[in-house]
Amino acid sequence: MEIILKDTYEDLCRAAARMVAKMLNAKPNAVLGLATGSTPIGIYRELIRLHREEGLDFSQVTTFNLDEYVGLGRNHQQSYHRFMQEHLFEHINVPAQNIYIPSGTTDNYEAFCRWYEQRIKECGGIDLQILGIGVDGHIAFNEPGSSLGSRTRIKTLARQTIEDNARFFDKPEDVPVYAITMGVGTILEARRIALVANGKKKAPAIAAAIEGPVTSLCTASALQLHADTTYFLDREAAGDLKMIEYYEWIQAKGPGAPYSTTWRRSV
Ligand code: PGA
Repeated sequence: MEIILKDTYEDLCRAAARMVAKMLNAKPNAVLGLATGSTPIGIYRELIRLHREEGLDFSQVTTFNLDEYVGLGRNHQQSYHRFMQEHLFEHINVPAQNIYIPSGTTDNYEAFCRWYEQRIKECGGIDLQILGIGVDGHIAFNEPGSSLGSRTRIKTLARQTIEDNARFFDKPEDVPVYAITMGVGTILEARRIALVANGKKKAPAIAAAIEGPVTSLCTASALQLHADTTYFLDREAAGDLKMIEYYEWIQAKGPGAPYSTTWRRSV
């Protein structure tokens, strides 16, 4: 687990976008796992800038989104289909046929969920998954109590999530109660994971995820079992971490720095 601390939201978005760009430079046909919500918007903004100004190429990329509200069509103002078009896909050159987002309007959810999992496998698995985190510690819509081995399925949203997301709808009653979401088990199969969080209200969830026990009550804590997860945090989101001084120390020294220096000296 690597923790990258930044002073501002813009800095952490730039750092996370750099990780995506590095991945695409090394593997132009990478499979990206994408997230919605307020947090990743800055990362998408930076990716769009890299595409426009530095030629970052998405022409061979495949994307899988984490989740979608059940009942919202792809053109609904608050659907995640729409969100992704507006915040990313309309502005880069990822081919439309390479974009996968769970359907909020299928008439057979079970079959759709099985197909979605199958498609991820057929495309070679997710190389880099971007995640936000809910104030209740959820990743995607895996609410507290979700099985840590869960796969893509329908979830009933927690009251907290409905309240948090009500800001995007005209009335709280308009927030859908169900979502279709990748499971925690699905997410853990991504080769690399980048979780991004900013602001004070995420601090307890971040502390629980990184330093608390692995528990279904905070599904992000399952990432402790993943071998290549990077957290991009601003100072406020990192505010409740007990080991903060150690993470700062690592950041100042660079992870594994003495070994790479020795290695470089010996060649
Ligand atoms: P947010 O949502 O980025 O809008 O805070 C994060 C999440 O619920 O995963």
